[in-house]
Amino acid sequence: MSKQKGSALKAVPKAGPEAAEKPAGALETQPGFKPETWFPAPVWSRRVPDHARIDAHILSVLDELERNGKAITRSNVGGWHSAANLHAGNELAEIRRIIGNAAAGCATHLSFDFDRFELFFQEMWLNRNGPGDFNKAHVHPNSLLSGAYYAKVPEKSGNIEFYDPVRERVMCTFPVKARTRINSQAMEYKGKEGLLLIFPGWLQHSVQPNRSDDFRVSISFNMGFRRKGG
Ligand SMILES: [Fe+2]
Repeated sequence: MSKQKGSALKAVPKAGPEAAEKPAGALETQPGFKPETWFPAPVWSRRVPDHARIDAHILSVLDELERNGKAITRSNVGGWHSAANLHAGNELAEIRRIIGNAAAGCATHLSFDFDRFELFFQEMWLNRNGPGDFNKAHVHPNSLLSGAYYAKVPEKSGNIEFYDPVRERVMCTFPVKARTRINSQAMEYKGKEGLLLIFPGWLQHSVQPNRSDDFRVSISFNMGFRRKGG
């Protein structure tokens, strides 16, 4: 895309003996020559107020489901994964409302057309990862927005890791002095009780093994969209 403006062109130094002696990288420190970042992979995060009460309730729902329900397996290796239809019941109505409102805000950032379409919960489920349990790298197919809410997070119980969706970038790795947002091919979030993360369903992620001696509890969800009244 050609989007150079006058100010960007001014940042390119004139040819001459001095410029010839400098390595090409030195020119990048010129002020005013900053890249515009295209094709972003957004991850939204927020801490839910009054989360201790909500978390205690989620743990009680988990206890009840574990006594009565049956586990399923998806990306989890070990751990307990509830059925994926928890959005349909009323036990988790409060956190469902919080997640739904937050996801609507994320969709608004993406200029989602709320005049003609609406978001809806496709799936919602509870995860309990015990010591040694982890989640393999995966995406959430057909989900516009997915995410996780953390209800119980012991220290060292495993961070969530996201991977650069531009796979071609691995063909040109280069030495860096520091990992930054513009050069990283993976990044991670440390879970915290009350933390809500939302990201596009296509953004590949994994969960590191739980290295604590306690279990971590989270809620995951997938949100789709459909035509209003259709
Ligand atoms: Fe996931």
